[in-house]
Amino acid sequence: MSKSPIRVAVTGAAGQIGYALLPRIASGQMFGADQPVILQLVEIPVDKAMQALEGVAMELEDCAFPLLQDMVLTSDPAVGFKDANWCLLVGSKPRGPGMERNDLIKENGPIFTGQGRAINDHAASDVRVAVVGNPCNTNALIAMHSAPDVPRERFSAMTRLDQNRAQAQLAAKAGVHTSAVSHALIWGNHSATQVPDFVNTRIDGRSAAEVIQDEAWLTGDFFKTVQQRGAAIIKARGLSSAASAANGLVDHVRDLRQATPEGEWRSVCVRSDGSYGVTEGLISSFPVRADGQGGWSIVQGLELTDFLQEKLKATVAELEHEREVVSDLLG
Ligand code: NAD
Ligand code: LMR
Repeated sequence: MSKSPIRVAVTGAAGQIGYALLPRIASGQMFGADQPVILQLVEIPVDKAMQALEGVAMELEDCAFPLLQDMVLTSDPAVGFKDANWCLLVGSKPRGPGMERNDLIKENGPIFTGQGRAINDHAASDVRVAVVGNPCNTNALIAMHSAPDVPRERFSAMTRLDQNRAQAQLAAKAGVHTSAVSHALIWGNHSATQVPDFVNTRIDGRSAAEVIQDEAWLTGDFFKTVQQRGAAIIKARGLSSAASAANGLVDHVRDLRQATPEGEWRSVCVRSDGSYGVTEGLISSFPVRADGQGGWSIVQGLELTDFLQEKLKATVAELEHEREVVSDLLG
């Protein structure tokens, strides 16, 4: 018997990431090859955006995806989030060259109060929310505070793209295929202060630090490349990452839905319970294990070197500062 469809709301559906993301959802790559989906596509109430959204929907129709049962196109969050099981909050302004992601906070932050409230009031009782729009950690915090009836563990933000970037950089340096790199891990904020952990990440089962044996590179070029990769893509493409961001989100949702293989973890930004000294209540990237039933936990007991601990403190301080800047949006 075929499964009943799940409802997936995507904001910013006519944008760059939306364009790369929607075919991946509709073809079953995010929720599974046997899971029908209904796409609820949310855009801003501006003719140009709604017209572009119609074009995207026409293209999805033209793919004749077997799993795509229906589409809703709307500029009303109450309609877009109605009965949604997953809300993928992409819609917001991207940064341009020379900006940091948190320069967007005043412009993008308020989007997530209204959307949080609409999710609170209209989404399905099992709703899960993944935030991509930047600065995604703090935007997830705003959405979470605006949806007091939704359990807090249902909110996440994305550092899976950063994890994938770290994995690729370490593989290239070690001269191995990316599949030889496991346990890749990002701590903290999806920003230039994020902490790519080269000690707990493994290459062929051994610490990447032990395999690479080049501390100057690990604490220098590697760190900087991962932290600055989004800016490098903006510089090269003239637009922010879209295909790799959509891919990161497919991975992120699968990471939370499927049981994490024994002994492994994935980087997910979730509400801190104070683990590893990260201030309780912030949305920060941690090593997370999912139980395959919708639950997750933060992996405990990882050792951090003095260098990584210092970096973790700095990224937490930045998250605290962002929280302060948006305190008026946190109810
Ligand atoms: P884009 O400008 O191409 O598309 C954004 C879309 O969102 C536009 O179509 C716009 O009309 C729509 N939008 C704006 N406000 C909205 C609202 N309130 N409701 C619904 N839709 C709304 O941008 P993009 O390249 O798709 O990037 C989107 C966001 O994702 C940016 O903030 C970007 O910085 C962020 N991003 C995050 C990551 C990550 O790893 N977390 C990676 C890449 C991009
Ligand atoms: C990324 O990491 O590619 C995105 O957050 C876009 C950006 O502004 O860097």
